[in-house]
Amino acid sequence: MASGQLSREEALACVGCRHACHILLYADTEAQLFEEIPIRHIILMQMRFDGLLGFPGGLVDPSEESLEEGLSRELWEELGFSLSVTVEDHVSSCHNPSSQLVTHFYARRMEEKEIREVEKAAASTATDHGHEVMGMVRVPLYTLKGGGGGLPSFLSHSFIGNSRSQLEDALVRFGLVTPEELQTALTHAEQRRK
Ligand code: GTP
Ligand code: MN
Ligand code: MN
Ligand code: MN
Ligand code: MN
Repeated sequence: MASGQLSREEALACVGCRHACHILLYADTEAQLFEEIPIRHIILMQMRFDGLLGFPGGLVDPSEESLEEGLSRELWEELGFSLSVTVEDHVSSCHNPSSQLVTHFYARRMEEKEIREVEKAAASTATDHGHEVMGMVRVPLYTLKGGGGGLPSFLSHSFIGNSRSQLEDALVRFGLVTPEELQTALTHAEQRRK
């Protein structure tokens, strides 16, 4: 089977593949940092048990449940929040031939109030809190003066699987940053890693 991007249906047809589903939850916000820098959007990722950043979600066995049912179950475990994911939330699927793992990526826009409820539940009632998930984090979208802080620093951390490219793709796809802003942040991130 070819590597790279597939439709949801093509990905499900893969014989012998394992499947994992993860989701980007985001909201618009009027909030400002230091009463000066617009936060613009709240985007949730998580610090995983293995010290890597990733999106909430997990492994799904399509012979037992649909991809979206499985993702909703993982969100209940990892976020303590009941969210019914649908096929409409699907963004992309990607096949990694070396691990025979297909990663399915979803996104859902929420209200700021709802996102805050997700954060509250994830830090208190979620069964995986402190086990599989060390905590939820928000992605800073700004770049601080001097170029280092904010999104460039965030992007220079270590990410699980292809979650870093899922994030970069979604930032531009959903208009959360401009392609130019992302490019600038990536250039600064690259300098930080040297
Ligand atoms: P267990 O319940 O312990 O099995 O964990 P889980 O079901 O929550 O699985 P996990 O979220 O760790 O995802 C399974 C696999 O998918 C991981 O081993 C990674 O290879 C990959 N993965 C994890 N998070 C992400 C992510 O955000 N994006 C992508 N593309 N892959 C991820
Ligand atoms: Mn899990
Ligand atoms: Mn998980
Ligand atoms: Mn799991
Ligand atoms: Mn688990």
